[in-house]
Amino acid sequence: MLTLIGGAAVLALLLFFTVRNYAVQVAQQGQDSILEASAKSMLDAATIRDGVVELDLPYSAFSILSTAADDRVFYAILQDGNFLSGYEDLTFSDSQTFQSDYIRGSGVRKISASRTLIGANRRTELQIVVAQTKDALSETLDRISRNTALLGIGFFVLAVALSFWATSTTIGQLGKLTTSVTRRGPQDLSPFAKPVPREMVPLVSSLNSLMGRLDQSLSQSEDFIAEAAHRVRTPLATVRSYAEATLQRVDKEENREAMRSMVKAIDESSRAAGQLLDHAMITFRADHLERDEIDLVDLVTDLVQRMTPIAEMKDLSLKVLGVPRAPYSGDPVLIQNAVRNLIDNAMKYGPAESSIEITVSANPRPRITVCDHGSGFPSSEIGTLTTRFQRGANAKDTIGSGLGLTIAQDVAMAHGGGIELENQPEGGACVTLSF
Ligand SMILES: Nc1ncnc2c1ncn2[C@@H]1O[C@H](COP(=O)(O)OP(=O)(O)OP(=O)(O)O)[C@@H](O)[C@H]1O
Ligand SMILES: [Mg+2]
Repeated sequence: MLTLIGGAAVLALLLFFTVRNYAVQVAQQGQDSILEASAKSMLDAATIRDGVVELDLPYSAFSILSTAADDRVFYAILQDGNFLSGYEDLTFSDSQTFQSDYIRGSGVRKISASRTLIGANRRTELQIVVAQTKDALSETLDRISRNTALLGIGFFVLAVALSFWATSTTIGQLGKLTTSVTRRGPQDLSPFAKPVPREMVPLVSSLNSLMGRLDQSLSQSEDFIAEAAHRVRTPLATVRSYAEATLQRVDKEENREAMRSMVKAIDESSRAAGQLLDHAMITFRADHLERDEIDLVDLVTDLVQRMTPIAEMKDLSLKVLGVPRAPYSGDPVLIQNAVRNLIDNAMKYGPAESSIEITVSANPRPRITVCDHGSGFPSSEIGTLTTRFQRGANAKDTIGSGLGLTIAQDVAMAHGGGIELENQPEGGACVTLSF
């Protein structure tokens, strides 16, 4: 719209100056031809008698010059270049017919005309200069300028209204399309069916084809993540069980040591592959968050039941505390994954034969806190542990990839919340996820 208005402003100025210039020329020509008629009629009245020039200035020579603005008229009569009569300070240089000049402080337009008079025995050159002030002319020009300016402003206002109308009809259609894109749910990648103006058909069809490709590549990457997790974990599990079996049969201590390192390396890779794929899956699901109505207490209890066998191997007890019900709308797969990572940490970094408390609270916002009775987070590193691949100094002898807290934090943030790490005064680490 600004471009159109700018263009209209330039056109309006152009219109103003062109019309005014043209009007100046026409008005000037009008005054010039009357001045010429007046000078000619004076010259026509001149005669030469007995060698003497006689000139009876005709009344009409001045009356045709009368204007509404009472312009003043000056004249000078010269014979062979010598001043005879009139205003002596009215001179006319060079050969031009018309000139603009100043006389006695006012701007004038003047003409020079001459005639050769032939008597019995002499010929003489008679020159007449007539000048007229330009008050009427400038009044006319002022009037024309005013009218042209009004015309230009009118034209400009009309152009502004038209550009507003043109842009709002065009942008209005785009706005409608934008609203229909914005209103869509995160999962809705179906093509746009609404009728659109002909000019926008190419845009809408490229959007639709983009939607199609996006839909395809999204479902491909979802399948890919599941497939890749399966393909990496299964063979690693097989190799690990072979290595464990071999370890039982090997007697030599140095070979046993080598087999143990091998099992540890397999565990490291298996854990890293699993965590990397979980992280990828979480990034993907967090982008297209699907919220279901869930109860966080049910979700945690279910998870705890599934993890109890692993906890029992370390003589750990998992306790669910807090409110009896915590309804929330979120992605259960993501939240379970986050909490599993926190319990997993508590089991890894906490001492054996202790308890892990998982507290669910509902107010003021849903929170899940996992606390253990270990040595807590290394206090100098507590601020950086949620960074990707960041492991603490206390993690040297445990298997891990440094992604657990990152995953938990991403899940909390995808639900509009956050993660908080702290050490309890009586010892032990506490991690709180808020949603
Ligand atoms: N409950 C805890 N007590 C003490 N330190 C912890 C606890 N939980 C995490 N940490 C520290 O934070 C670091 C990062 O934890 P994170 O879960 O992100 O990675 P990880 O456990 O090392 O690897 P993984 O990706 O396999 O979980 C750990 O290496 C450990 O140093
Ligand atoms: Mg961890």
